Amino acid sequence: MRCRKCRERAVLEIPRHHTAFCKTCLTDFVCAQAERAITEEKMFAKADHVLVAVSGGKDSLSLLDILHKLGYQADAFYVDLGIGEYSRQSRAKVEQFTKARGVALHIHELKEDEGAGINELADLVHRPTCSVCGTLKRYHFNRTAVELGYHVLATGHNLDDEASRLLGNVLHWQTEYLDKQGPVLPASMEGFAKKVKPLFRLAEREIAAYAIVNRIDYIVEECPNSKGAKMLLYKDILNRLESESPGTKQAFYWGFLAKQEADAKTRPSMTDNDQAVLHPCPTCGQPTTAETCSYCKLMARAKKDGPAPVRM
Ligand code: FES
Ligand code: ZN
Repeated sequence: MRCRKCRERAVLEIPRHHTAFCKTCLTDFVCAQAERAITEEKMFAKADHVLVAVSGGKDSLSLLDILHKLGYQADAFYVDLGIGEYSRQSRAKVEQFTKARGVALHIHELKEDEGAGINELADLVHRPTCSVCGTLKRYHFNRTAVELGYHVLATGHNLDDEASRLLGNVLHWQTEYLDKQGPVLPASMEGFAKKVKPLFRLAEREIAAYAIVNRIDYIVEECPNSKGAKMLLYKDILNRLESESPGTKQAFYWGFLAKQEADAKTRPSMTDNDQAVLHPCPTCGQPTTAETCSYCKLMARAKKDGPAPVRM
């Protein structure tokens, strides 16, 4: 198989675009798709400081790599969840990557700051680990980006992540989550960082191939808590549809975004609605729609119920 652009040996076929690329043209393609997402969706500009939430996996480390290649100012933020060997390895990958490229790295350590790792915290509050993890990560991503003065927080979510999440939300008619499914969430009030997903135009296998040809050393294992997760099942189903009918994933997710954009023109903007209901949490000052934010509620419960030395 030959590269459709330069006729070199191709390393990846991309049926949804009826094309195939060699190493160099694949890198150009991935960077161009990310750049297109950033500019078309007005995510950020060259003068902005971007904080990239990194996990040590291929998506977030590739995102950091792509942003630097494109000339953006991007630093890294890692939350150490304290999941034994998995956290040790993923943290080591992040530290090696950032050190080798001279990228600033901020770390939040749950065991040090919350007094326990994610598995212990989830046990204490009797909630599924992944849901507690989501609450804690969202909280620290936002808080760190705002407190350290970054203009925007970027995550490595790709087309597969977004399409499978959309499928899950639609299957359960969780319409209240659909508004948050776009690649850009604006900074709707003071204390609320703008959040963006510059890889939403790229499929997981395209980013995996990018990481390999660009020699990015990432952690291949998934988080041990994700075993049996519904999202993996949805991804698998979408992959089967995609192989039968290339372009299904992008038609599903991008089609949803186009509809959402058309609908937004006929109703009041989310920003106005958000500002009406969001207010600072009385305990920590972070924006919330509830009386107390979900992080503070969770930590209060962990402190009340558990033997672990949880610090607030
Ligand atoms: Fe959150 Fe595994 S529990 S990444
Ligand atoms: Zn709070």
